[in-house]
Amino acid sequence: MKKRVGILTSGGDCPGLNATIRGAAKALYERMGEDVQIIGIRDGYSGLIHGDWREMQPNEFSGILTMGGTILGTKRTPFKLMRVIGDDQVDKVAAMKKNYKEMGLDCLLCLGGNGTHKTANLLSKEGLNIIGLPKTIDNDIYGTDVTFGFHTAVDIATEVIDRIHTTASSHRRCMVVEIMGNKAGWLTLYSGVAGGADIILIPEHPYSIDNVCAAVERRAAQGKNFSILAVAEGAMDTEEARIKRKERMARRKEAGYTNATQRIADQIEAMTGFETRVCVPGHMQRGGSPSAYDRVLATQFGTYAAKLVEQEHYGVTVAMHNNHIVANELSEIAGKSRLVPEGHGMLDVARRMGISLG
Ligand code: F6P
Repeated sequence: MKKRVGILTSGGDCPGLNATIRGAAKALYERMGEDVQIIGIRDGYSGLIHGDWREMQPNEFSGILTMGGTILGTKRTPFKLMRVIGDDQVDKVAAMKKNYKEMGLDCLLCLGGNGTHKTANLLSKEGLNIIGLPKTIDNDIYGTDVTFGFHTAVDIATEVIDRIHTTASSHRRCMVVEIMGNKAGWLTLYSGVAGGADIILIPEHPYSIDNVCAAVERRAAQGKNFSILAVAEGAMDTEEARIKRKERMARRKEAGYTNATQRIADQIEAMTGFETRVCVPGHMQRGGSPSAYDRVLATQFGTYAAKLVEQEHYGVTVAMHNNHIVANELSEIAGKSRLVPEGHGMLDVARRMGISLG
């Protein structure tokens, strides 16, 4: 009997989703040929809940290696609502189990970030055969050294910081580049170092605006009449770090700000006299073709997932650990996230380079 393998992509997209899908599919066909049927589920868990799926053909996995986005579509279906019955009266968990059965699945590959993995773990506990694959530009999935999508986003954000240098220098301005990452600062830290930012602010390391301005003035005293700041969208100052997110957002709104970056820019201008601008590359960091690094990683992860299917090794997610691809138990990693720890080597690198961390 044919093995029936479902695939879905859930949460925010990133470059490398299609490369991972392709890696898994090609490796499955290579080993099992006619004995495998892949079922594509549309828009992540939403498609699993509503029975939006179709049997896919091998040629659908050709020509997608370099494609950004996801051929399956994706959606954010919050984990916290999975057990909540909404206005539509749908019991989401029961519906997912029913549709899994109706599709005749032997297992389901769930490509996604932290939220996706929480639901993957829930489904695994409910008795479904699940294999996770770690996707996110935030690089914050617990138990893996790297996620696919991260390095492409680092390349994009680095290019932004590179380009900002010339205009900052001609106008003798401070430029604040807002990098994605609400809780995790990996993307800001790596692109900041790669792009030669002068100041890097990440959520894990609350800043003091006095330190930020002192860094700008120190550079000015050295004859460097411009400064580049790489600031994570989730950056917060030391005062804000003491209060809950909700209160933080309310206070910012009251002061006329939705994010930290514009406020930082205004404060720098007021405190140092440097004209300051904000640049928000936003979702560009998640768009377009995956880098060579991410294509390789996606192919490694995808082929490893195919191996797990063959071995019927379920309830796990694929991960990179010390340069080896491994399978982590979903129950071990779900609900945890991997933030930049104080004392991380890259923070030390930044400090030694004279980069201010605020
Ligand atoms: O999780 C990836 C991410 O790009 C975060 O860095 C960012 O905070 C968030 O998604 C943006 O989400 P959305 O695409 O739903 O606006």
